[in-house]
Amino acid sequence: MIDCCIFDLDGVVVDTARYHYLAWAALARELGFEFTPVQGEATKGVSRMASLEIVLRAGGLEGRFSAAERERLAAEKNARYLRFVSQMTPAEVLPGVAAFLHDVRSRGVRTVLGSASKNAGTILDRCGLRPLFDAVVDGNEVSRAKPDPEVFLKGAAAVDAAPSVCVVFEDAAAGIEAASRAGMRSVGVGGGASLSAATMRLETFAGFTFEQLAMKIDRD
Ligand code: G6P
Ligand code: MG
Repeated sequence: MIDCCIFDLDGVVVDTARYHYLAWAALARELGFEFTPVQGEATKGVSRMASLEIVLRAGGLEGRFSAAERERLAAEKNARYLRFVSQMTPAEVLPGVAAFLHDVRSRGVRTVLGSASKNAGTILDRCGLRPLFDAVVDGNEVSRAKPDPEVFLKGAAAVDAAPSVCVVFEDAAAGIEAASRAGMRSVGVGGGASLSAATMRLETFAGFTFEQLAMKIDRD
């Protein structure tokens, strides 16, 4: 049985990963080094401050800044990132996602957003998606990052669903592991090679229906 679908945001609902990357790369350039797209992969699904550590390490600058300076650098990156976010429109919702959310809800199944981002609410509003979620749990409410299951357990609790009836949609290996540690099934979204632990894989939401999900994941 599936009673609740929990969605990661970045890379599942919208493609904000490239905005995160551009903002980190601009910060790195200011600090005097290049932060490559390949290095940027490691920041996916990782909290803002942990991502900053990854960037600083890439430039050989780990341990060089005080806590207050790191806060300032993270704030600078976030301001840049929010400039991209402020230009977002519903056209940036990934193909098939809105239709799938409508389909899920029409079955009486709850929809929850579970994201590490503190900007999740702003992004949902920009893209007109807020009304399609019964609950939103984001980086403002969670203190332990994926692969810790906290974000998904809080999401399930917000709609009073047991983990065993939840399915998590994730594009990052840490998120798939978090789902498994929460006792939830998972769908690995996109082509990422590191999602083999997911219960099932899904290239794109385009044309995907709740019935197909239930057939694949709920055969038992
Ligand atoms: C998501 C993204 C990460 C980002 C994190 C925090 O997990 O995949 O790349 O660092 O959210 O986002 P925030 O908007 O709070 O800086
Ligand atoms: Mg993601």
